[in-house]
Amino acid sequence: MIYSYPQIYHFIMRLIYQKYFWQRYENILPFMGDRESILDICCGTGSLYFFLNSEQKKKYLGLEVSPRFIKYLAEKRIPAQKFDFLQSVLPVNYDNIVMLSSLYQLHPHCEKALVQMLQSAENKVILMEPILNHSSGQRPLVKKILNFLTRPQSQNKYTGFRFNEASLKAFMNPFLPWVQSSYPVCGGREMVYVLDARKWRKDQTWI
Ligand SMILES: C[S@@+](CC[C@H](N)C(=O)[O-])C[C@H]1O[C@@H](n2cnc3c(N)ncnc32)[C@H](O)[C@@H]1O
Repeated sequence: MIYSYPQIYHFIMRLIYQKYFWQRYENILPFMGDRESILDICCGTGSLYFFLNSEQKKKYLGLEVSPRFIKYLAEKRIPAQKFDFLQSVLPVNYDNIVMLSSLYQLHPHCEKALVQMLQSAENKVILMEPILNHSSGQRPLVKKILNFLTRPQSQNKYTGFRFNEASLKAFMNPFLPWVQSSYPVCGGREMVYVLDARKWRKDQTWI
């Protein structure tokens, strides 16, 4: 629902993240080289683009399933393509693959999605994922409304899945040998994970 209306989406995201709204994007900038290309999967309305330098902007591509977001991105002249991650193969040759606050939307295919990102990225995979969610709180009505609003357009049978601190840690555990850095951001609401895709590919040839 909110992924059909860019303005409503921004309003709700600002409401949820408040003072952390823009900080979310700043958190990941130190991990991307000044001249490196960036593939932003599930890019939403492409807010990350506004934090990039001119060189990075030339080498940025956002991928997004929502047709209305794609229209909005075109109007804002943000390079983006309509793309359903659950149905398509990722493009290669991007230095960094970024996925911000979206892995839960791919449930139950999160592991397959992360492996695909590690296979495709030249250099790094940078994940940021919420671990404190209003939609998984105790209030059933709030939970129901938020789950309805955030149902991805790519899935009809969405269960309202969200990670919490423990489940994200357990999910990332098998990938720890390739995690370069991980830490909480936005006052502990989200976790950032930076993974070495080059090392991951090299290690797969030995397994
Ligand atoms: C919570 S928003 C995050 C947007 C953006 N990454 C950000 O942090 O501002 C999740 C986005 O993932 C998109 N999405 C969900 N499933 C997808 C899929 N299978 N392929 C591509 N995009 C998808 C949604 O349409 C939505 O724009």
